[in-house]
Amino acid sequence: MPAVRQNLIVETMEAPRHDSNSDSQRTLMSYLIENSDNFAKLEKLKKKDWKNPAAYTHWQKRNMQANPATQDAVQQAFLYKMTQQIVSEMHMKTEALTPGKLGASKLQVLDICMAPGGFTWGALKYNPNAISYGITLPEQRGGYKNRFRLRSQNVRFMDVTMLASECGIDVIPDSHPDFARFLQERPFLDLSFQLIFCGGAVLRSTRDFNTDYPNPYERTRLTTSQLVLAMQRIMPGGTMVVLLGKPEHPDTTAILRHFDRFARIELFKSRRKHTLRSTFYLVARDVQSESHAAKAALEDWKARWYRATFGGEIGTGELEPDMDTASMASMIDEFGTRLIELASPVWEIQAAALLRQDFNVTH
Ligand SMILES: C[S@@+](CC[C@H](N)C(=O)[O-])C[C@H]1O[C@@H](n2cnc3c(N)ncnc32)[C@H](O)[C@@H]1O
Repeated sequence: MPAVRQNLIVETMEAPRHDSNSDSQRTLMSYLIENSDNFAKLEKLKKKDWKNPAAYTHWQKRNMQANPATQDAVQQAFLYKMTQQIVSEMHMKTEALTPGKLGASKLQVLDICMAPGGFTWGALKYNPNAISYGITLPEQRGGYKNRFRLRSQNVRFMDVTMLASECGIDVIPDSHPDFARFLQERPFLDLSFQLIFCGGAVLRSTRDFNTDYPNPYERTRLTTSQLVLAMQRIMPGGTMVVLLGKPEHPDTTAILRHFDRFARIELFKSRRKHTLRSTFYLVARDVQSESHAAKAALEDWKARWYRATFGGEIGTGELEPDMDTASMASMIDEFGTRLIELASPVWEIQAAALLRQDFNVTH
């Protein structure tokens, strides 16, 4: 396949960036380099590529080639097919898509950031009698087109990052430039789901709409709003599949650590698609959504959404404060070995792809 198409997702939902030299990140990286051969190898390969002008040009070019989604139907059709392949591979490896009915009369699935619909396609392939629901960004705001058709009452077209009431905020400061776009609606609140996908990615096409004020916290807003939405609808014992990036980033690590306390988790990365990127799917089974740990995680994600949305001096968002040294030390103490165990397959796949990639070859 032509490389240009594989790069449709301009900015995947990787963890929001602190300054890459932040103390907490440096501490975590040193720990991982010392304790994980897979991670050390990946870092070495990445550093080598940073020094390679051909690699730099390659990534620049690929980012430039990724057009706003709404303008390129061919790329979207390609993404749909690719997501179907990823879903099939994921299911073969993890059986994530068949959580069972968990005592309910029917299996219900929610696909957050649904379009083009590859995950919904997979859910119905492996559970033909399931009822599927989706939430996705309207095309007019830069969202993808849905290629998997559900009954219209089962799909809501909305920007999930604007679901203020869902995130616990009913009064919006009227000084906020996007005051009128915040939503009080809480979609599908009367339903609960055995399986929820959080597959959102910040796209260049969606960013083009946020021109009124800079919003460098869009990734955090998208990640946290999806998690908040999902956690308030997942059935106890259900399964969540969440698109994330860079397990080694403190913000991603914090998400994994939360889930590890109230679910059975593993990280899945396709061996065939997007291998060069740091993205992966968290598969969280048996989510104990009513546990104390799950409720604490929900509050943390609501607070992070709030800071990224309304924090800072002008009230349009601020960076998450860096983790202090003592908290990072205790995080590593408690979760470091587990993080390495979980993330090694992701690092290994990415490193193997970098090793295979010849940046001097033009695609
Ligand atoms: C990688 S695609 C998702 C693939 C999809 N889950 C599937 O199974 O085919 C990313 C999706 O995130 C959506 N998206 C991005 N920002 C969003 C937002 N703020 N609210 C809702 N959807 C959003 C995009 O429109 C796109 O549909």
